[in-house]
Amino acid sequence: MNTPSNESPLNRRGFLKTSGALAAGALAGGLSVERFAHAQGSDILRVALVGCGGRGTGAASQALSNTSAKTRLVAVADVFPDKMDGTLNDLKKMHGDKVEVPDSRKFVGFEAYKQAISSCDVVILATPPGFRPMQFEEAVRQGKHVFTEKPVAVDGPGVRKFLAAAEVAKQKNLKVGVGLQRHHHPGHIEVMKRIHDGQIGDVIATRAYWNGNTPWVRTRAQLEKTAGRKLTEMEYQMRNWYYFVWLCGDHIVEQHIHNLDMINWVKNGYPVKARGNGGCETRKGPDYGEIFDHHVVEFTYADGSVCFSQCRHQLGCWNDVSHHAIGTKGKADLERNVITGDNAWRFQGRAKDPYQQEHDDLFAAIKNNTPYSEAENGAKSSLTAILGRMSTYTGKEISWDEALNSKLDTMPKNLAWDADPLVKPLDSGLYQLAVPGKTQFV
Ligand SMILES: NC(=O)c1ccc[n+]([C@@H]2O[C@H](COP(=O)([O-])OP(=O)(O)OC[C@H]3O[C@@H](n4cnc5c(N)ncnc54)[C@H](O)[C@@H]3O)[C@@H](O)[C@H]2O)c1
Repeated sequence: MNTPSNESPLNRRGFLKTSGALAAGALAGGLSVERFAHAQGSDILRVALVGCGGRGTGAASQALSNTSAKTRLVAVADVFPDKMDGTLNDLKKMHGDKVEVPDSRKFVGFEAYKQAISSCDVVILATPPGFRPMQFEEAVRQGKHVFTEKPVAVDGPGVRKFLAAAEVAKQKNLKVGVGLQRHHHPGHIEVMKRIHDGQIGDVIATRAYWNGNTPWVRTRAQLEKTAGRKLTEMEYQMRNWYYFVWLCGDHIVEQHIHNLDMINWVKNGYPVKARGNGGCETRKGPDYGEIFDHHVVEFTYADGSVCFSQCRHQLGCWNDVSHHAIGTKGKADLERNVITGDNAWRFQGRAKDPYQQEHDDLFAAIKNNTPYSEAENGAKSSLTAILGRMSTYTGKEISWDEALNSKLDTMPKNLAWDADPLVKPLDSGLYQLAVPGKTQFV
C-alpha cells in the first residue's frame, strides 16, 4: 500500500474498509487471519507492531533480533499510512525476509490495532501512551503476548483498565513485557540487590531527576505545509501528540516515569502521596499545547521516606538525568551503578543494550512458558508519575488512592479525524494550561 503522506485522513477510511473486508472475507471463507501469516504448529512467533514510530521501529527490530526465539514481523498498524512504509523499509533493510508484511496486513486507522493483534502471537504496542489501556485490553482479550512501551496509561481510568487487563493476562498465562528497560540491565539489577540486602542501610531519601532540553515539536504550520491542506484538530493533536495530556500524559509521565520507576524499585513499593509544584515558564506557544515545562514533586512512601523529584524541559539550564538513594550507611547512584559509604562498590560488568535484553527476556519466557509479567509494575509506575502530575496541576496534596480512583478520563469518546478532542485551542490559538490552586482534582 502506497498512500502519500499528504492524503486526507478521511480518505484513508477507504483503505481501512478494504483491509477490514479482506480479513472478514478470509474468515468467512474458513481461513483464519493467522493462516495469512504462518501455518499452525510452526515454532516461529508472529509479531505485530502497533504504532510505527521511532520506538515501535526499534522495538520491532529488537523483537526480530532476539536471541531466544524465532520471530517474524507479520503485521503493522498505524493511524497514519505514511508512518508504516518508512518503518517497514527500515526493518526490511535490517532484517530482510524476517519482515513478511504484505499490503493485506498493513492496517490503518483508530481500529487498526484490532486486526494487527488478530494476525499475531505477540504484539508490540508503541503508540502514544493514551491508547495503551484500550489496546492492551484488546490484546489480552484476544489472548496474545504483549510487549508494551511505557507509560501504559495517562490517567486514573486508564490505569484501572490496564490493571484489570493485567489480571486477566495472568489468568490466561500471557507474557507481558513493559518498556522500562532499566529492569533488564545487569548493573541496575545488581545495585538494587545490594540495596535490598541492606548495603546502604535504611533508605531514608531518594531523588529522581529528568532535567533536560525540550523534545521534538511538530508545528501546525509545518504539518499543514507538508500536507498541503488544513488539518482537523484531531489530526493536529495526534501528529503533535507530545503536548496533549490525553495522548502523552505530560513529560512527567512520558519521560520522568523512568526515574520514578527506579525509585519504586529501590523502595519495593509505590508512594502513598505527592505534593508538587509546576508550571510553564519558558516553553510557551500554541504548538506547545497544554503541558508544563517543569514539575517538582515530593513523593512520600509508606515508611515515611521521601523521594524528591524534578523534571524540566527548558533550554539553557543545568541538565541531569539521574536517580539516587541515600541510606544510613551509604549512597547509591542508580544510573551509574555506584555505591559509596561502608560497602563501596561499582558495577564493572558488561551489559547488553537493555532495549535488546528486554526482548531476549520476554521471548525466552514465551518460548519456555515461564511466568513473566511486568504489567502491574508498569501500571503502578505510570500511576506514580500521573499522581505527581495531578499534584502539580492542582497544587494540592494528592494520595495514591485518590489518583487511582480519579474520575478524570482524558480520552475522547469518539475517535475519528473529524471528531473533537476534549481539549481545544482558545481563540488566541493557545491551549488552557492547568492553574495550580484553581484547577480542580477530579
Ligand atoms: N522505553 C523508552 O526508552 C522509550 C523511548 C522512546 C519512546 N518510548 C515510548 O514509545 C511510545 C512511542 O513513542 P515514539 O517516540 O515512537 O513516538 P512516535 O510519534 O515516533 O510514534 C508513535 C506512532 O504511533 C502512531 N499512532 C498514534 N496513535 C495510534 C493509534 N491509536 N493506533 C495506531 N497507531 C497510532 C503514530 O502515527 C506514530 O507512527 C511512547 O509511549 C513513548 O513514551 C519509550
